Amino acid sequence: MMTRTATTRIVLTAAAVILLAGCRGTTSPEPPVHPNPNMDTQQKLKPQRSSAFFADGKAMRTPPEGSVARGELREDAAFFTGKNDDGSYAAMPFAVEAADLERGAKRYAIYCKPCHGEYGDGKGIIADPKYKYPIPPTSYHEQRIKDMADGNIFEVISNGIRNMPSYRQQIPVRDRWCIVTHVRELQKHGAPASAPAAAQTQTPASTTTETTTTETAQ
Ligand code: HEC
Repeated sequence: MMTRTATTRIVLTAAAVILLAGCRGTTSPEPPVHPNPNMDTQQKLKPQRSSAFFADGKAMRTPPEGSVARGELREDAAFFTGKNDDGSYAAMPFAVEAADLERGAKRYAIYCKPCHGEYGDGKGIIADPKYKYPIPPTSYHEQRIKDMADGNIFEVISNGIRNMPSYRQQIPVRDRWCIVTHVRELQKHGAPASAPAAAQTQTPASTTTETTTTETAQ
């Protein structure tokens, strides 16, 4: 005679075997069982999809003309382009504090120093003849660069110039201005005579042309 416990065990085992058999990798056209749907599936319109709801058949709405995304209103032309409304180059658009100088020095070390050098004399690591960099980076101690308006240097960083690439994608607007303050600091101090001579410092003939670029800075 089987005890009650033994019978229960046999029934449970049989039930488990039958249930688990359903877990073999059979395919089904039915959607998977989703015991707790929560808010996983909702009626909604997805970007770039069609929709029968709107007359034009698009799920996405075209923003009204002239809409500006939050935080994207670039009202301050001098700050964003380096130029005043009359097209002249702007001066530093905000009061520079110690933290800005520090930030500028750090960003300069990352983005400019490899070419323009620690002292801004154009003797960065890239100027070592072994890298065969075709154009010597300009020295900031040239009178022409000393005479440049802050906004013009900002524009050079934003748009690049001749053989120098643009850094607008890498460097946010405010940081570009902080870098301008560091360039000014370097110009104040001058380059030490003992700076390692990694490159010839003569100015390429092309640098004598006008420094304006037509592209608008972001
Ligand atoms: C990849 C190397 C490289 C980097 C990085 C670089 N520059 Fe230059 N820069 C150059 C070269 C080369 C020139 C000279 C371009 C020419 O005259 O064709 C130049 C020219 C300049 C000039 C002179 C523009 C003029 O009117 O003649 C300024 C100012 C300047 N760079 C600032 C900067 C600042 C600030 C940074 C950092 C944000 C920077 N550069 C990063 C290579 C570089």
